[in-house]
Amino acid sequence: MSITIRKELLDDYKLTERIIKNAFANLEFSDKKEHELVARIRKSDVFIPELSLVATDKDNNEIVGHILLSKIKIINDNQSVESLALAPVSVLPNYQNKGIGEQLILEALQKAKEFGYHSVVVLGHPQYYPKFGFKKASLWGITAPFEVPDEAFMALELRQGTLDNASGVVEYPSVFFD
Ligand SMILES: CC(C)(COP(=O)(O)OP(=O)(O)OC[C@H]1O[C@@H](n2cnc3c(N)ncnc32)[C@H](O)[C@@H]1OP(=O)(O)O)[C@@H](O)C(=O)NCCC(=O)NCCS
Repeated sequence: MSITIRKELLDDYKLTERIIKNAFANLEFSDKKEHELVARIRKSDVFIPELSLVATDKDNNEIVGHILLSKIKIINDNQSVESLALAPVSVLPNYQNKGIGEQLILEALQKAKEFGYHSVVVLGHPQYYPKFGFKKASLWGITAPFEVPDEAFMALELRQGTLDNASGVVEYPSVFFD
């Protein structure tokens, strides 16, 4: 198996959505609508096409995974700081636990850094994301706009110090809640 990570193209959209649906199909916590969330984000102004990436298996040229980073804000009484949400990341069940999720995340973070973005926020598995440098968002005084376990709401500075004065509540765009 040889995996390539590349930008998602318009022609990939339908297939990518099928991959996302499949990846979440058996998960209890999932609303099984993550593929619809991605479709809505793609049509909105928070979408960054360069930060929607797919993993393809060179052997059969199939898409087997996907990741999306899109624009969010961290807001307090005095300021609004631009950040990115990592949501969702998906790998087909048959391809999981082979390092593809890790490749997708590393590439997306690298690209986000290259494009000059400052930070990334994720709501996810507290055992999975720290290896990429994510820490509890509450360490910077950053909180979610809904109830979440403290350790599952995490943030990452793409450049050192970019979250130092960013305490506030994350504001997700309305497309996240449709
Ligand atoms: C989570 C996911 C993207 C990881 O991708 P992957 O290619 O399977 O992951 P990798 O091979 O890079 O890494 C495997 C590691 O992830 C861990 N992992 C996988 N799913 C996990 C989960 N639900 N909770 C905690 N850890 C998990 C494995 O235990 C393994 O840990 P290790 O490296 O310490 O052995 C993939 O399993 C997936 O699509 N899951 C369903 C959708 C989902 O839960 N997405 C994340 C929430 S947005």
